[in-house]
Formats: sequence, structure tokens, C-alpha cells
Amino acid sequence: MRIENKVAVITGGASGIGRATCNLFAREGARVLVADLAGDRAEQVARDIHGQGGTAHAIGQDISSERGAESIISVALERWGRLDILVNNAASFLHKRLEDATREEWLSVLGVNVIGTALCSKYAVAAMRKEGHGSIVNVASINGLVAMPNWVTYNATKAAIVNMSKSMALDLGPFNIRVNCVCPGITRTPALDVVLGEMGLTVQEAEKIFAEPRCIIKRFGTAEEIAPAILFLASDEASYMTGATVVVDGGFTA
Ligand SMILES: NC(=O)c1ccc[n+]([C@@H]2O[C@H](COP(=O)([O-])OP(=O)(O)OC[C@H]3O[C@@H](n4cnc5c(N)ncnc54)[C@H](O)[C@@H]3O)[C@@H](O)[C@H]2O)c1
Repeated sequence: MRIENKVAVITGGASGIGRATCNLFAREGARVLVADLAGDRAEQVARDIHGQGGTAHAIGQDISSERGAESIISVALERWGRLDILVNNAASFLHKRLEDATREEWLSVLGVNVIGTALCSKYAVAAMRKEGHGSIVNVASINGLVAMPNWVTYNATKAAIVNMSKSMALDLGPFNIRVNCVCPGITRTPALDVVLGEMGLTVQEAEKIFAEPRCIIKRFGTAEEIAPAILFLASDEASYMTGATVVVDGGFTA
């Protein structure tokens, strides 16, 4: 097992990429805290992990609130006594054009994606410094590397996460805490289903429009194809990696 007995907190763990990451981490021996705004769905993921013989616990909290972020990390520490891995995966998919986004909408998407990532990391780092080691993986997006039309709000937050990851790696290196970033391409998750629903497109139609002309691998990815990159960066196998941006996008940005 690749992360046996490690304690891992995964935000947004109730759905999509977060859920696949929780399942994979548990199969690789970690004790997993499934943290999500949707507490009931997080409980279900934890129950499924138990059913497969793994160890998991769930918490329903909002990462964009200071109290929410603090209590996510506290619950992991109370339950398992330490924290080795944090995966900042939860996100708001608020996507608006510049002319349409209100100040409140900007604050809301920045609050989850940027400030939520920072707050969870802040409380995790306090625990990791006591342990003398830690690994943080931030889930950004190819939208943080290249522009996507009509998504300026979301794109800006994901670009912020790419640079935040490098800044965190620099500042936390002296404490033996590695920080890396994963940029998924378009991935089949419940969030994508919502976006395609708004566009009135099936997955097959959307793959023809968005994947075939640009992706070397001419389809969307799956959550199970993103989770292994997160696992690798979180594990000791990536002991010489920090400040890295790993793109998993079927060649979309190649
Ligand atoms: N699906 C894609 O195409 C794609 C592409 C690139 C990057 N990503 C990134 O991957 C990550 C996971 O996306 P996904 O597609 O699996 O999404 P998803 O919607 O399936 O899952 C996201 C989860 O985050 C939770 N969440 C949202 N706001 C929260 C908050 N304030 N506090 C706690 N939890 C909250 C949601 O309840 C949900 O369970 C996100 O960071 C997203 O930006 C996704």
C-alpha cells in the first residue's frame, strides 16, 4: 500500500474527483476524512469505504468559512491524532463573463476556491509543522493555465491556485511540507453534468465540440484518471517534488 496509515483530509470528497480520490486513498491504506459541504453525501462515501474494509470519517462543512476550515482539520486530529496529507479539491463552479459577474459572485467564488484552499491549508500546516512533515495537493484546472471562454470568474480562481501552490511550496519547504498542484482537463463528474445541462449538450455532443478538436486523447477524462496523479503527489513516491504543476488533460493544453 502506497500511503498506509497516513491521515488524509480531502475537501469536496463527496463527489467526482474528490470522491474517486477518497476511494483510492482508502484502498492505498490511508485513514480518510471526507470533508464536503454536502454532509449526507460525504457520509455515504465514508460508509462505502467502510464497506470495502477501509477507514474513513465524514464531516459536513463549508471550507470558505474560517470556522468550517478549522473544524475540518480539528476533526481529523481528534480522531486520528495527526495529519499527513491535505487535498484541497472542493470548488465552486460559478462561471460568469466579466460583464455579468456581480461583486458578490466574485466574492463567493474567490471565497471557496482561493480563500477556502488557503484556510484549510493554514490549519493543516499548523498540525503538519508539529509532525515535522506533510504533503498538500491543490486541485486547480487547465482553466488556470489557459483561458476558457465566458468563465473569467472560475478561471481567475484556478490561476490563483496554481501560483498559490508554488508560493506555499516555497514558504513551507523549510518545514518539510511539500505542496503541489494538479490541473485536470475536462473530466466527467457531476459538476460537468450540470455545466453540460445548462448548455443543453449530451456528453457525446460535448466531446465532439470540446475534446475532439483539441484533446490528443479525443474524449473527456474520468475522475478515476485524475485521482492517481493526486495520490502520487501526496505519497512519499513524490519526495523530490514540490512547487510542481502536474497537468492531466488528455493532451488538451499540449
Ligand atoms: N470536472 C472537471 O471537468 C474539472 C476540470 C478541471 C478541474 N476540476 C477541479 O476538480 C475539483 C473537483 O471537481 P469535480 O468536477 O469533481 O466537482 P464536483 O462538483 O463533482 O465535486 C465538488 C465537491 O465540492 C463540494 N464543495 C463545493 N463547495 C464547497 C465548500 N464551500 N465547502 C466544502 N465543499 C464544497 C461540493 O459539494 C462537491 O461535492 C475542483 O477543484 C474542480 O475545479 C474539475
